[in-house]
Amino acid sequence: MKQFQVKNINTGITFTVNEGESVLNAALRQGVMLPYSCKNGTCGSCKGRLESGEVHYPFHPPIALSREEIAEGGALLCQAEPMEDLVINAREIEAVRDIQVRKMPARVIEKTLMTPDVIRIRIKLPDAQRLQFLAGQYLEILVPDGKRRAFSIASAPQSEDIIELHIRHVDGGGFTGWVFDELKERDILRFEAPLGTFFVRNDKPERRMIMMGGGTGFAPLKSMIEDLLAHNDTRPLHLFWGARNRTELYMHEQVQQWAGQYDHIQYTPALSEPEDEQQTDGFTGLVHEAVLQQYPELSDLDIYMSGPPAMIDAGRAAFLENGADKRRIFFDSFEFGLDVPVRVLAKPH
Ligand code: FES
Repeated sequence: MKQFQVKNINTGITFTVNEGESVLNAALRQGVMLPYSCKNGTCGSCKGRLESGEVHYPFHPPIALSREEIAEGGALLCQAEPMEDLVINAREIEAVRDIQVRKMPARVIEKTLMTPDVIRIRIKLPDAQRLQFLAGQYLEILVPDGKRRAFSIASAPQSEDIIELHIRHVDGGGFTGWVFDELKERDILRFEAPLGTFFVRNDKPERRMIMMGGGTGFAPLKSMIEDLLAHNDTRPLHLFWGARNRTELYMHEQVQQWAGQYDHIQYTPALSEPEDEQQTDGFTGLVHEAVLQQYPELSDLDIYMSGPPAMIDAGRAAFLENGADKRRIFFDSFEFGLDVPVRVLAKPH
């Protein structure tokens, strides 16, 4: 298959595009975050400049690029396919502030009970709409009474028009009760996304990663791991997933499968109230204690935590005492019990 080299003079990054592939898809496939929104040539978010080389538009003319813009060197990178090596000048997303936050509708296409307390829903964006986000970010569902309800995105950014959410039932939690009892497939939800600053840092790729999740705090970690796998990123990572009992580890087999298949992924389940002896093949106790048992010295590890505030607070304090670098602890903390959750966003503290 023919391949072309594309250099972005804005950042100095070079990537490869296969014949018949758009510049944007090739960039995203290789972890180069060019901005986009619709991916079908109508919104203009992916506009860049062609400094040298020639492209063609197999589905042309692209709606969001005028003849005048083409004549002046403009290119619509979601549609443009190289005919030779290119030099482009395009903005790349370096931080969450570079990603457009949008309000969108989505249709519920799947609702699956994972445990008596956790539902997985998949929602689909309208045709021709895409959501660009960083693995680990969250969305807020806009509830008709004006409230918002935040959920981490559990699917990876590669799945741009279908988004997966893991929703835990909260006693007395009006919205989650409604999701469990009344929300149906084909219903429409409105949400705002992407939000939050919880994402995998790539500035120190030599550092190993610990990911620690509590309950449905697994959701953004799942998105991160799937995204790392999609980019063939083999940085060692060790996932610790805590819950009261095995039933609450609602995707335990999936994580075991990752750990069996990939040498760089380790998995330790931590159960605080295991139901019987078969459930103690991981760690018995709190999840941050499981981390410390295996990593009594944490100074060369990046730590990503997601879960309820009590877990995050206990973990953070204990990890700092054991040498963790406070600039390399990233977390997403949310309170399951509130209808509008208090979120402490993932700033290193
Ligand atoms: Fe919308 Fe390219 S992403 S025009």
